[in-house]
Amino acid sequence: MKKTIVVYGSSTGTCESIAQTIGKKLNAEVIDVTDLTTEQLEGADNILLGTSTWGAGELQDDWYDGLEVVKEADLTGKKVAIFGCGDSASYSDTFCNGVKELFDTAGAVGATIVGQVSTDGYEFDDSEAVVDGEFVGLPLDDINEDDKTEERIDAWLPTLGF
Ligand SMILES: Cc1cc2nc3c(=O)[nH]c(=O)nc-3n(C[C@H](O)[C@H](O)[C@H](O)COP(=O)(O)O)c2cc1C
Repeated sequence: MKKTIVVYGSSTGTCESIAQTIGKKLNAEVIDVTDLTTEQLEGADNILLGTSTWGAGELQDDWYDGLEVVKEADLTGKKVAIFGCGDSASYSDTFCNGVKELFDTAGAVGATIVGQVSTDGYEFDDSEAVVDGEFVGLPLDDINEDDKTEERIDAWLPTLGF
């Protein structure tokens, strides 16, 4: 059986709660990025990486050390999908920017990135997570659109091919 893990960084619990929801739906192990090891990444077939965005479009704090762990791993042949938590109203210019940093880092160590998402249905001014007209992962705005979170997750997970 293929092994799937969900890794999250979260400051006030939003991204953590979303990671737990996704983990239950996929029957996957859920790991706080502060506990992440290279062995856990290399031992999985499918990996979900989740971050909230802070500051002016920056990664969640715990991910700065976490990225160093990802950079040490060889993710060749593994599927990686990325999700983000943000606030498209108050931070409309940097909505879920952190997703792009995870995308760049996982791609640089060989991962096949899956789970691109159309921008349709989102209202925001700008996001680094949009590449070639699509989000490179699943953005979630649990602050303003919490009623859409679960349906967005449910629409996204089957597209990953996990
Ligand atoms: C000071 C501050 C800065 C933020 N900056 C951004 C941002 O640049 N882009 C964005 O999409 N969300 C931003 N947010 C919203 C958070 O990402 C959002 O509240 C998220 O749900 C927090 O998730 P967490 O509790 O898992 O860390 C910011 C929130 C705060 C309080």
